[in-house]
Amino acid sequence: MNNIVTIENPKSPIAESYRNIRTNIEFSNIDKDLKTILFTSSQQNEGKTTIVSNLAVTFANLDKKVIIVDCDLRNPSVHKKFKIGNIYGVTDVLLEKKSFNSCVKETDVKNLDIITAGEIPFNPSEILSSKKMKEFINNLKEVYDYVFIDTPPIGIVTDAGILSTYSDGVAMVVGSGEVSIELAKVSVERLNKINANLIGVILNKFNIEGTNSQYGYYGMYYEEDNGSRLSRNKKNKRKKLNIFSKKK
Ligand SMILES: Nc1ncnc2c1ncn2[C@@H]1O[C@H](COP(=O)(O)OP(=O)(O)OP(=O)(O)O)[C@@H](O)[C@H]1O
Ligand SMILES: [Mg+2]
Repeated sequence: MNNIVTIENPKSPIAESYRNIRTNIEFSNIDKDLKTILFTSSQQNEGKTTIVSNLAVTFANLDKKVIIVDCDLRNPSVHKKFKIGNIYGVTDVLLEKKSFNSCVKETDVKNLDIITAGEIPFNPSEILSSKKMKEFINNLKEVYDYVFIDTPPIGIVTDAGILSTYSDGVAMVVGSGEVSIELAKVSVERLNKINANLIGVILNKFNIEGTNSQYGYYGMYYEEDNGSRLSRNKKNKRKKLNIFSKKK
């Protein structure tokens, strides 16, 4: 699943699920100024880059000006999703080797820009915790309606924790069946300790086959339309944004 489904198949049930997550994020945003949203997970491979790429498309489709910032300076991959180069990017801007304007890339999606990670540094945490990084994100907020930040897993390295202090909200991606509840809880605790604003958890790669879901892929979508959102939230206790997809 290397392609961006919200671009290639916008009418598909999976694209609909992404729009459902978008709506949840918009609900979280009522009376708040949630512009910078960081995506992390406990471990590698849970789906952060896939989700950040697709969600950015759905927000851009609403005529919002959106940028994806690849802050996974250890294993950058936003450029691979969008099939663009990664010669210059965030690190080059921060090190003042290149201007932002020469690094930012427009995509084929109207309103969606990307700044790739750039050269992989030997000291990612140091770069991300610099004053320049904070200023960089703050400057982006002046220009874009939404700044989506892709990061490495918080269960493995500290980078996402550092970046969460410059972000208005954090979304945790949980790969169903790929991470233990204990590890996911440790990651959430880590975010709570640094007072990150956890706006929700996105359950990814959840296999609905074999469940009793009456509505298949559209389950959450219709439940919310039927007004049973409150009872569902009570049951789940935690805000949960779902993306249903067949597991590979
Ligand atoms: N809902 C899904 N259903 C099936 N496959 C998925 C789903 N989400 C992501 N994948 C696949 O899982 C793999 C990892 O996804 P992705 O690169 O988005 O994860 P990541 O969390 O960004 O990984 P990393 O920590 O290495 O940056 C990719 O092959 C991707 O296509
Ligand atoms: Mg990734």
